[in-house]
Amino acid sequence: MMRILLCILVCFAASLATICVASAADSPDQYRLGERMYRDGLLSDGTALKGYVRGDLEADGTIFSCSNCHTRSGLGSVEGQVTSPQINGASLFKPRYLFKDQIKNTVSKSKGVIRKAPALRPAYTEETLAAVLRGGIDPTGRELAPVMPRYNLNDKDMRIMVEYLQNLSAVFSPGVTDTSLTFATIVTDDVSPEDRQAMLASLETLVTINQQTKTQRKQPQFAKMFRMLDTAFFRNISINTWELKGDPATWNAQLDAYYQKEPVFAILGGISNKPWQPIHDYCESRQIPCLFPITDLPVISNTGWYTYYASKGYFQEGETAARFLNSSIRDNAGKKVLQIVRSTPQGEALASGFASAWNENEAGRGTLATINLGKDQKLDTPALQQLLLQHTPDSVVIWSGDDTISALAGMPSQSNLPQIFVSSRYVGKTFAAIPERMRDKLFITYPFRLPEDEKKFKGYNEFLTLGKLKQPDKKRIATRTFSMIHIFLQGMKELKLDYYRDTLLDVIGMRPDQYLPDFERYSFGPGQRYASKGCYIVQLDQSQTPQLIKRSDWVLF
Ligand code: HEC
Repeated sequence: MMRILLCILVCFAASLATICVASAADSPDQYRLGERMYRDGLLSDGTALKGYVRGDLEADGTIFSCSNCHTRSGLGSVEGQVTSPQINGASLFKPRYLFKDQIKNTVSKSKGVIRKAPALRPAYTEETLAAVLRGGIDPTGRELAPVMPRYNLNDKDMRIMVEYLQNLSAVFSPGVTDTSLTFATIVTDDVSPEDRQAMLASLETLVTINQQTKTQRKQPQFAKMFRMLDTAFFRNISINTWELKGDPATWNAQLDAYYQKEPVFAILGGISNKPWQPIHDYCESRQIPCLFPITDLPVISNTGWYTYYASKGYFQEGETAARFLNSSIRDNAGKKVLQIVRSTPQGEALASGFASAWNENEAGRGTLATINLGKDQKLDTPALQQLLLQHTPDSVVIWSGDDTISALAGMPSQSNLPQIFVSSRYVGKTFAAIPERMRDKLFITYPFRLPEDEKKFKGYNEFLTLGKLKQPDKKRIATRTFSMIHIFLQGMKELKLDYYRDTLLDVIGMRPDQYLPDFERYSFGPGQRYASKGCYIVQLDQSQTPQLIKRSDWVLF
């Protein structure tokens, strides 16, 4: 496995790039206006930027912004047949060649005489750039492909746009020097020492591998062969641990103090049992990528850009239960569903996922009643019986913790039970206590691969030994951290020499589906921020140590 990893590193083909460092934008306000135009398609007066495709077909910039095609970092994208080129200042204001790599653009005419291949187009000037944006004609007189819209920008907005492009991805993001790449990870003080160790030890392998290549790259043979190779592994990686203590309301200030002390390029992993919100907000405001933190309480948002989550956590389990109910019960109309929710972040996240998916199917759904339990109010058998008598539901959804199974197990055998839904993560591993007679009534949301399927990833465990873990990885902390490292390394490979945070997020968004342990599938898409989108509904079989039986597909609609 180590060899494979090294191989991955060695295969990082990178090219030489000349970085043209533009001066920072004249005024931050101007820059913000440009950013809004580029990303959201809004002009300086707040109205929508209008583009024209194929002569007169109007394209609304708020739907089709520059960043949709050219990516947020301006480093371009390939979507099917359409290649949207790099349009950051460093590429527009210098001649464009066929290859980004200078060596490839240098052809040997005859022995000893080296000349450059002709440029595809000369460097843009402010005037020629305005002309290509308005009329679609580039400085060589070539008409751009019709997919690139033409924009009627007035002089003021054109100046803002040109200036924005000049400064876009012009200087490397913080945390990068010629010889080093600095990252951080985050641990909050509610995390147990074992869990903390599982995450940190796994993350440490990244540094270990990086140090191993340090010796290799000094070997003359290696250095000669890969003299152009300059990726993540040709800089020294260090990962600082940011420990967050006390009230989450103080985390922002703690994070800022760490960052001021030593800026980092990105946050790798991280772990907390508390809601991730304050860290998410910090990363958005500072524009720091945060890759796959270990949290079951992520922020659910369509607009967040900087944090990549493995899944929506509890919210996703709640969604799945509602979709299953919506789709599995025909004639759902008129059926009664009772939802019992403990007032904890877990219970509330499950309920909010349930509510969002329940409302998706207006036609088929029944009536929903919700009962809230206090944070420390125990759900026991008499309380449950009382609620069932009172509401006579056809299905009951219980979002409570480890009291759930004993409350259920205590139900008298003659009682006529409705369908029951619980969260495997929230109730914990106490399923064996469920009496056999009750198992066909119990539906469990299970957000991971099923155990028999997980066996396919046996080889992956070799990674774990790299992490020098003393204990087996019962909580999937090490495996999830290794999945993060895997995706991060792919991102760094695609980054080539472009050490811009937005580029890292852009290129991860363009990765194909990944087959890794824990989650059935990690899938990506531009701007999508939850990689694993599914969850199973399972039931227990009748054996002594109950096995899980799949009752749904991974993804339900
Ligand atoms: C629908 C996708 C799309 C959108 C939206 C879009 N572009 Fe383009 N753009 C392209 C494609 C494709 C090309 C390459 C066309 C060609 O070379 O024939 C291109 C080319 C360009 C070029 C010429 C690059 C060069 O090296 O000559 C510039 C400059 C440019 N776009 C800027 C912008 C700006 C600024 C916006 C937003 C105001 C924008 N584009 C919006 C797809 C798009």
